Amino acid sequence: MHHPKINNKFHKHQLFLEDSKLAKFVPETKIFSKKNLFSFIEKNNKIVVKPSMGSLGKGVIFITEIGVEKYELLLLNKKKYILGQTNLFIHLKRRESKHIPNIIQNFLSLATFSERPIDLRYIVQSNNFDWVVTGKYAKIAKDGYAITNFTNGASIFSVEDALKKSDIKNLRINDLLTSIETITIAASKCLSKYFPNNRIWGFDIGIDKSGNIWIIEANSAPQIKGFLELEALKPMYNTIETYKRKYKKNT
Ligand SMILES: Nc1ncnc2c1ncn2[C@@H]1O[C@H](COP(=O)(O)OP(=O)(O)OP(=O)(O)O)[C@@H](O)[C@H]1O
Ligand SMILES: [Mg+2]
Repeated sequence: MHHPKINNKFHKHQLFLEDSKLAKFVPETKIFSKKNLFSFIEKNNKIVVKPSMGSLGKGVIFITEIGVEKYELLLLNKKKYILGQTNLFIHLKRRESKHIPNIIQNFLSLATFSERPIDLRYIVQSNNFDWVVTGKYAKIAKDGYAITNFTNGASIFSVEDALKKSDIKNLRINDLLTSIETITIAASKCLSKYFPNNRIWGFDIGIDKSGNIWIIEANSAPQIKGFLELEALKPMYNTIETYKRKYKKNT
């Protein structure tokens, strides 16, 4: 079974929605269209428009309605203001790639550390019997950015360290860590039904200020160089590499 088209954010999102264990952990997501854009803004006030396939954070636009038909856009660390619904739609439509349709998501009020959003990277690998979390770290956005991509200047911390620094209310760190592990493993199993040859997944996991867990995205070929940023993460880097060598797909 091979579904090349399914390897994009929107389709992986649909697969999670169809899984009763995972549906509540994915943000509301729609294909970009004029109708969806304005019904989303009306409902959520703050939304995210982004390409349905990897952009390393470059195409991710945060949109807030700050007055009647007055919009503030944040792209990387640049703000821009647009007046009028039609102008907003035209602006976003022009930026959309011909080949990679955009999606719209409600904005997740991610946990922050001195106003910089935090998200978590979890690496899950198969040892032919089980799915195992082999590495994890936290990314804290560069000052002025809402995206937490490492390639856009985010700082890397251990997950425990970042959660302790964060503004999550009533944090129960051990319960949270157990839940994230359960969810990322369930998500790997869900994806493995559609991508049977894929032995590694990298998840971007958001935690909002109330401590709710969100699957932001699942990457089928995650970069792992972030694990070389901190001495404390290097053992995870080695574990990930060992898994890659040891558990090659048996074709
Ligand atoms: N709905 C959202 N609410 C809040 N922040 C978001 C949301 N979607 C994305 N972000 C932030 O933007 C970052 C980049 O988004 P995402 O991972 O979806 O796209 P990408 O990094 O451009 O794609 P890829 O990782 O495939 O290159 C996330 O790591 C997160 O920090
Ligand atoms: Mg990403």
